[in-house]
Amino acid sequence: MKYNSIVFDAYGTLFDINAAARKSALVSSNSLLESNWKDLAEIWRKKQIEYTWLQNILNIHTDFLDITKISLDFALEEMTLDQEPKLRESLLELYWTSEAYPEVTQVLEELNGRDVKLSILSNGTPEMLLAACESTKIEKLLDFVVSVEEIGIFKPDGRVYDLVNTKMGYKMSEVLFVSSNGWDIAGATKFGLSTVWVNRNKKPVERMHWKPNYELSDLMHIIDLFR
Ligand code: LAC
Repeated sequence: MKYNSIVFDAYGTLFDINAAARKSALVSSNSLLESNWKDLAEIWRKKQIEYTWLQNILNIHTDFLDITKISLDFALEEMTLDQEPKLRESLLELYWTSEAYPEVTQVLEELNGRDVKLSILSNGTPEMLLAACESTKIEKLLDFVVSVEEIGIFKPDGRVYDLVNTKMGYKMSEVLFVSSNGWDIAGATKFGLSTVWVNRNKKPVERMHWKPNYELSDLMHIIDLFR
């Protein structure tokens, strides 16, 4: 394997983006939330990403925390959960105590043991990413945690993927970029990075010209690429 560095997307790839809605449903007495938390999580995520794209296209920028809040407001209203007391606060609170997907720590530790450099490149703000890395206890395994706030523009703008070189100092040819987001993979591949699509939800591949170099069902199999 010619790669010696892996750069991961954060939300949906390392950190479980459904955890907040799932945990809120568990402690809720609201039957609508109990039975529909997956829909809430899906609308929240879809709007969150749409707003990042819209801001890029319209040439404006507020950070990912702001976008996470306003996309949640949209999702709560659409699900008629916007009158539920304290739900908004508790969902946002859980974003600060993120959970990693079950295989993440083991995979990062094994790769670390093989001298592969591991980093994060994410739309998240530096504060959000620091909190997530601390709560999942992976910060000591990472070389760099780089936020798009360095340049104030979201993925899939090419300038974000260029941070792999300009901020982390890696050569493009030695990096594998790993994301569970098909659109993120298309952007990184177009920019010229080698890519791994973690297809956790068994989705069809994006109908874009730029296909992933590798497709895996979860992160565990990345280790096989470094044997
Ligand atoms: C991120 C989002 C796109 O972490 O998942 O950058």
